[in-house]
Amino acid sequence: MLKYEIKDFPLDQDNLMLAETLFHNANGYLGVRSNFEEGYPKNMDSIRGEYINGFYDFASSPQAEKLCGLVEEKQTMLNVADTQGIEIYIEGERFSMFEGEVLGRTRTLDMEAGTTLREVLWRSPKGKTVRIEIKRMASFALLPFFLIEYKVTPVDFSGEVKICSTHIGKVMNYFNPNDPRVAGESFEHLLVESIEVNNDVSYISSKTSKSDLCVCSAVKNVFSKEGKTEIVKEDGAVKEEYIGFISQGEVLTLYKYTILCDSVRYPNLSNETKENMEQALSTDINEWYEKQKAYLASFWENCAIDIVGKKDLNEAVHYNLYQLIQSVGKDPFSNITAKGLSGEGYEGHYFWDTEMYMQPFFTLTARDIAKNLIRYRYTILEYAKENARILGHKKGAAYPWRTIMGKECSGFFPAGSAQYHISGDVAYSIVSYYLATKDLELLRGCGAQVLIETARLWMDLGNYYRGKFHINEVTGPDEYTCLVNNNYYTNVLAQYNLRWAVKSFHLLKEAGLISDLIEKTQITEEELKEFEEAADKMYLPYDEETGINPQDDSFLQKKVWDLTTIPEDKKPLLLHYHPMYIYRYQVCKQADTVLAHFILEDAQDLETIRKSFAYYEKVTTHDSSLSTCIYSIVASRLGLEDKAYEYFGESAKLDLFNTHKNTKDGIHTANMGGTYMAIVYGFGGLRIKEEGLFLNPHLPKQWEGYQFRILFEDAKINVKRTQAECRITLLEGSKKNIHVYGKEYCLEKELVIY
Ligand code: BGC
Repeated sequence: MLKYEIKDFPLDQDNLMLAETLFHNANGYLGVRSNFEEGYPKNMDSIRGEYINGFYDFASSPQAEKLCGLVEEKQTMLNVADTQGIEIYIEGERFSMFEGEVLGRTRTLDMEAGTTLREVLWRSPKGKTVRIEIKRMASFALLPFFLIEYKVTPVDFSGEVKICSTHIGKVMNYFNPNDPRVAGESFEHLLVESIEVNNDVSYISSKTSKSDLCVCSAVKNVFSKEGKTEIVKEDGAVKEEYIGFISQGEVLTLYKYTILCDSVRYPNLSNETKENMEQALSTDINEWYEKQKAYLASFWENCAIDIVGKKDLNEAVHYNLYQLIQSVGKDPFSNITAKGLSGEGYEGHYFWDTEMYMQPFFTLTARDIAKNLIRYRYTILEYAKENARILGHKKGAAYPWRTIMGKECSGFFPAGSAQYHISGDVAYSIVSYYLATKDLELLRGCGAQVLIETARLWMDLGNYYRGKFHINEVTGPDEYTCLVNNNYYTNVLAQYNLRWAVKSFHLLKEAGLISDLIEKTQITEEELKEFEEAADKMYLPYDEETGINPQDDSFLQKKVWDLTTIPEDKKPLLLHYHPMYIYRYQVCKQADTVLAHFILEDAQDLETIRKSFAYYEKVTTHDSSLSTCIYSIVASRLGLEDKAYEYFGESAKLDLFNTHKNTKDGIHTANMGGTYMAIVYGFGGLRIKEEGLFLNPHLPKQWEGYQFRILFEDAKINVKRTQAECRITLLEGSKKNIHVYGKEYCLEKELVIY
């Protein structure tokens, strides 16, 4: 049973906001925070939100000094409606978790059923006891559909129950002017245009203030027992009241159906909202629950992840993977936001997090989803080209550091737009997808074009100096070191990008599929030669004295910040020190060169990687959640088992234990993908290269065993490692030559090693 449960959940401010995130419901299209339907006392804060992936408004992002090309307008994901409200009155007494007596309370996420449950046993101030059970589901089978099943059972009385269910169109986004990781200002982005009630379904249509997008929310309340009902329209809202009589032990259920449609996907908005509501209502609730289960059964079957011997970690890993499937966009209009659909941190923006931390999971277990992620980048290619021109490049495509619809949203360019590596990351993910699938069609349709345009960017961005190709004035992944020359990660990735632009050209040419690419890019043999030459001559910083790859040209010249001297109340550094102060030190927010040593490990020998790891470990704070998983993977590669295990544990538990103290603003999706990578690439030693599939499964001594399942070319392969053996099973597809523990084997049905 895959369940995450908290009994007697705490009712203080911090824990409630945390639980709003941890128990949110989402399906990649919509997401609803787990707010109490009945609300909170006035003195308590809550981030009440319902979001649609990729639905945004423009918001101004004024720069104090109007330098050329700086971003002055960003996109922000909107809170689209509040359809969560349900108030219950028991013989006139209003149910609240903060009044009367809460005799028992549990919150559960059922990761097989795809539902959350809040169970409360409550005694009113006048002594009436009721059991309340609230089940919620964001349907994977019908993406615009969100359901609340609200059950009330009188335990020790019979009497009147009044239910008041609200549908509010006038909603705002959360903001905090003191935290750079969430929006800093409040603004009414959505303007309610019409409110209608048809066949007891309420429809609220709203329009964004600037982006010209529309959203329509529909709500229908279905009560299990006849009662007196009344629907009233209010200012920007609709309220339905129900009054009924229930006997002791009898269960009264309200099924509250919500449909959220946006004009990004549903051009015929009001009709399509209505049709979706009709579809939701015409299918039996139990059938919806069955469909949800079936979707998740195949999701879990495809990744088949299991850790034996450590229940808490197994639960945390499943929790993290569940969040990935809840967060990932299922259409080319959307991607995966840094916080999924669980909160407003980073304003619903997509970063390199997707390509480097989450796409690997989907490439290995759910290809259609991975393909969509690539297609999304393709749909914004024209914006990436435009962005390159804004940055002064005559050719190529520079993917925006953070975006929703394709335009750059980063207000602080030193740690934003200057992270040119994102273009290399997008290219890298396309190549990884190709190597795992050999899907030439994707390369032909969109992948190769992206590889060519990003390669062009490097050519325009870099220059030759003393016979070597240098890339100056960029920021690598480590945001505590900005605007540097020759960031190792960027250069080695650019080299790979340039090489693969050429390779993809030849692959398509050999397959007779090149005409589209030539037509779309006007690429010539001569330009390809330039790519090759720049790749061959790429300057990769190396320091003889330390034997490491310096993070960039100036990194080793700086003072070292002794991390043991940082007081707890000064962490994370970004909230306590001026950026320039931080930039002057050898201090890293996250894996940078160490990440390069994982993704492009063959660029250096093992000794250099070992020395680099030891060096950077001492100066890395892991203030970014994207860091410990990578340290775990590289520690595994280096045989540093204890470290690998420790870093893995930090990654696995980051949100469940709120270790970064900001999970209230949303989950950290990249880290969740990173937890998976730390198992599969770390402990499992998986690599997919041009030479094929490599595995090197090691077992942490704390575990009895583990397994995972991956797709490789036409095959589905199960990898199981226990203390006794390593068992690799070909579940589907043709036989494969694979490398295990450095030896080549032919995998026909099953390989048992040891
Ligand atoms: C990290 C970035 C990441 C962003 C969104 C930042 O804290 O430094 O690497 O892309 O968060 O997750």
